[in-house]
Amino acid sequence: MNKKRDNFYKKHVFICTFGKTCSTLPEHFEIFNILKNKIAEKGLQNEIRINKAGCMNWCSAGPVLVIYPEGKWYSEIKIQDIDNIIEDITKEFIK
Ligand code: FES
Repeated sequence: MNKKRDNFYKKHVFICTFGKTCSTLPEHFEIFNILKNKIAEKGLQNEIRINKAGCMNWCSAGPVLVIYPEGKWYSEIKIQDIDNIIEDITKEFIK
């Protein structure tokens, strides 16, 4: 029997890091690592999960990430965009 659990992550962020095309850009892993570290620095690693993902079928706009449950996408992400993305991801957790 499946059990319903309430204590899983409240938010998931998927970033393409191992698809066939856009993941060849070196920024993918760097962006993933920076996002993961910044979430941990804020102590939100048990609330927000940063996940590596395969191709999300937007290779021409990579690097891409999607935030759930919102279903919000960011494309052509640059390192300098990360602080704004972190602010967007964490705003509901920071009081
Ligand atoms: S390989 Fe990244 S979206 Fe396709």
